[in-house]
Amino acid sequence: MLKDEYFFRSFFYNWIVEPHLRGIKRYIARICNERGVRIVADICCGTGTQCYLLAANDIKCVGIDLSPGMLKIANKKKPNNTWFIRMDSGNLAFKNNKFDAAIISFALHEKSYSVRQKIAKETKRIVKRGGIVLVADYLVEPETGIPDWKTRFVEFMAGQEHFRCFTDFCERGGLAGVANLFGLQGKVLETFRNNSWGLLLLENS
Ligand SMILES: C[S@@+](CC[C@H](N)C(=O)[O-])C[C@H]1O[C@@H](n2cnc3c(N)ncnc32)[C@H](O)[C@@H]1O
Repeated sequence: MLKDEYFFRSFFYNWIVEPHLRGIKRYIARICNERGVRIVADICCGTGTQCYLLAANDIKCVGIDLSPGMLKIANKKKPNNTWFIRMDSGNLAFKNNKFDAAIISFALHEKSYSVRQKIAKETKRIVKRGGIVLVADYLVEPETGIPDWKTRFVEFMAGQEHFRCFTDFCERGGLAGVANLFGLQGKVLETFRNNSWGLLLLENS
């Protein structure tokens, strides 16, 4: 049985973390709407708020997460056009080209490079050609590769292994470096929190 790394955090995630992410999640829902997306995979969906926002826009959403604690919260108010599944994002049990889009928000920075690579490969596989991948995560200063001090502090407090993965994520360019990870063309559509966070749009060509 895998350890639930998010069991403790699942109790306060919606109160403490989620309100800060509302703006970026609303923006993601808007982009999906504008791009005519009908079915989305929310990879590492956490407590499911992004799926709820998509469901309100009449977009089907499959939320994938490993944490039973996070999924229990997600399932509490589950809309009819939304499903939550316990699954490893590095090994997705979906057919190729199933989704119009995939979303990965604030999950890649806390994974090792090899796990990030697996998640990227699987995400690309399940999104159809011409579809999109939206990634929300931390931006770094292009010259120094360093994120802002508040981000560093929060990530430092999350523990040694977490911080090691985060540091590697930043050294590889932060959010901008994710385009290389996927091997796809992309652009940062919008920045948030004084350029600390951004939303990257990748075209699955
Ligand atoms: C920081 S939370 C982000 C949650 C959500 N995407 C958000 O923006 O609020 C990271 C989530 O990734 C999940 N996770 C971590 N590793 C995973 C994996 N290999 N497969 C699926 N989910 C995973 C955790 O359980 C957690 O819910």
